[in-house]
Amino acid sequence: MTVLGIETSCDETAAAVVQLSDQGRTEVLSNVIYTQATEHEGFGGIVPELAARAHVERADQITSDALKDAGILDVSQLDGVAATSGPGLIGGVMVGMMTAKAISLSHAIPFIPVNHLEGHALSARLTDDVPFPYLLLLVSGGHTQLLLVSGVGQYRRLGTTIDDAAGEAFDKTAKLLNLGQPGGPKVEDAARSGNDERFAFPRPLHQRDDCDFSLSGLKTAVRVVAERITDLTQQDRADISACFQRAAARHLSHKTLGAMKIAERSGVKTLVLAGGVAANNVIRQHFDEIVQARDWKMVVPPAKYCTDNGAMIALAGAEQIRARGIPDQTKAMELAPRPRWPLDSNPEGARHGGGKKGPKA
Ligand code: KG4
Ligand code: ZN
Repeated sequence: MTVLGIETSCDETAAAVVQLSDQGRTEVLSNVIYTQATEHEGFGGIVPELAARAHVERADQITSDALKDAGILDVSQLDGVAATSGPGLIGGVMVGMMTAKAISLSHAIPFIPVNHLEGHALSARLTDDVPFPYLLLLVSGGHTQLLLVSGVGQYRRLGTTIDDAAGEAFDKTAKLLNLGQPGGPKVEDAARSGNDERFAFPRPLHQRDDCDFSLSGLKTAVRVVAERITDLTQQDRADISACFQRAAARHLSHKTLGAMKIAERSGVKTLVLAGGVAANNVIRQHFDEIVQARDWKMVVPPAKYCTDNGAMIALAGAEQIRARGIPDQTKAMELAPRPRWPLDSNPEGARHGGGKKGPKA
């Protein structure tokens, strides 16, 4: 099964072609990404209107590049075209869906609407053989959730952030320290030459034994420390970055450990990290420790599949067809973009935003 996937829900215009064999083997035939950096420079975050315009300008080219790189000469040979249909910035999501619907109609191939979070949830299966069920920590710019993944479309949420997402906290820390955007990689870079013991940052929700996260206190701690120092030096920035990163890693791994204990009761012993923040090496190292201590297996996709990409959307589309068949095309074509779209059906989810993804700063 060969599927084209299109991703436009935030600041990446991305398209990819993925092939899924009957045995479940996956091959990424192409993966093209354009990251909007210059478009949002100087605004301190992503401007939704500018993002949507930039997607309009690039979507067709990126899509045809992905088809060309994959050696697809006849688009009607594809088994489907998938596009992120939410959650995300509505203007961008509309662009991706319209592009995919146009391809679907003009080449008579099925259109498969994909939940962006499902793309992240399945992304580890792009490169690794990861059988269901597994425990998933989804950490991105808009989400921080722990989910039990039992199959395609089968998700049970164990915990979520009660305030900011982890990526958002990285982005805001970078903004406060004037490191530039996107914040995650900038903070990670700055932290390399920092002392991660110089400041004592809080341990959010440490005494609570649920699996929820809270990141806004860390962000405030960063602000308090940064404002206390007049004329922040390069070294101060590095030290604050290192302390924040360590505190975030400690918080994420501590809460995940609680979820691992719950998941073990159902025989689950595999942890998958996904989403942009999973690209962070210090965070990965913290997880290595807890995973080894409990004799679990951990799978983290390569960085290019942690951050937003078209391959995970193509795979989610292909996996949907394999699990449930081609979606009803009348309904798919009529589906409106969804700014919010929680992955699990747990109504509790709505309490904490249930799938919000907004401008990252
Ligand atoms: O998954 P993603 O590309 O987009 C969303 O779905 O939100 O995640 C983007 C987020 C941003 O907040 C970015 O700063 C963060 O992931 N990120 C990182 C790293 N690379 C990207 N955070 C920490 N360390 C990184 N190396
Ligand atoms: Zn994402």
